[in-house]
Amino acid sequence: MASEQRRLLRVLDGESLTPPPVWLMRQAGRYLPEYRETRARAGSFLDLCYNPDLAVEVTLQPIRRFGFDASILFSDILVIPDALDRDLTFVQGEGPQLRPIAPEEVSRLDPSRAETHLAPVIETVRRLRAELPDETTLIGFCGAPWTVATYMIAGHGTPDQAPARLFGYRHPEAMEQLLTLLAEMSADYLIRQLHAGADCVQIFDSWAGVLDEASFAAYAVKPVRRIVDKVRAAVPGAKIIGFPKGAGALLAGYRAATGVDAVGLDWSVPLSFAAELQAQGAVQGNLDPLRLIAGGRALEEGVERILATLGHGPLVFNLGHGITPDAPIAHVEALLRQIRG
Ligand code: CP3
Repeated sequence: MASEQRRLLRVLDGESLTPPPVWLMRQAGRYLPEYRETRARAGSFLDLCYNPDLAVEVTLQPIRRFGFDASILFSDILVIPDALDRDLTFVQGEGPQLRPIAPEEVSRLDPSRAETHLAPVIETVRRLRAELPDETTLIGFCGAPWTVATYMIAGHGTPDQAPARLFGYRHPEAMEQLLTLLAEMSADYLIRQLHAGADCVQIFDSWAGVLDEASFAAYAVKPVRRIVDKVRAAVPGAKIIGFPKGAGALLAGYRAATGVDAVGLDWSVPLSFAAELQAQGAVQGNLDPLRLIAGGRALEEGVERILATLGHGPLVFNLGHGITPDAPIAHVEALLRQIRG
């Protein structure tokens, strides 16, 4: 099959498909017993990310079980700071921890190790394209510079990324330098994923929603534009999904300002506004992940509303954020039955 025929890619090109292609953010994860089993065999979460045999295995698990239209590379956005020697660890139940970066350290960051460090992830992409069903779109990804920077600055997750916002106000030059470095590295990383067989890529800006208007332009839009331009210069026509979670009204200009083909929508985006965004091109989302946990009417109504409002235009059905470990497998099956009829 020519790659352009893969359903998700057709939607990114602006086609409307019934039923819409569907995949779920974090579809390889702890809600699956087979993931938990492989994860235990790998040792740590990072060992899993850097082991192509096991990373291919967990990427394929949700495809075998559910037959999603797209498969997302199994890795993490924080492999970039890991390649910068920021002492990344994942503490069970607590999320990521890194050595927090100080403003004066930014100019000493050395990206030269990244190519070697990330080689196992690129190998995973190569094997995945060979092993996936022909009709399944393979999505590569990276974190947006702002979201990656928030973890590098605080050294762990926070509820509102106050340390990174303060860093930006107090040290604008160091922030600009950090985001530019991350944008350059992320673009190189995405280019390698595309060359290795990824059909398209997604840029996760999970913390875009904490920025004020001016900071959003400087920290969320500008570095993503830099990635998009660099990727397209190396891979003409590369298809890119941007997901600025929590961006609210600032979503209106995001596609045009960054150059992404499709915008990912979190569940707080009103469907009437989503329909306006869809008039400009493909959208992806935006079911509340908690509807998937609740199941029953809550799930059916959520799916119904999205399909009624966005189902006739270019739509990639997805959640508004990642699937959580407590999502019942039977509810994922019910979701797919409802979408696919
Ligand atoms: O299936 C997929 O979607 C592909 C794999 C993927 C993971 N992380 C695996 C993962 C992707 C695309 C990500 C992106 C990611 N990682 C983001 C952006 C998307 C989002 O969720 O907002 C962010 C912010 C991270 C950083 C990160 N990684 C955090 C904050 C955590 C801890 C939270 C948690 O759920 O435990 C992780 C760990 C992580 N990344 C897990 C998985 C499957 C759980 C780790 C485990 O198995 O113990």
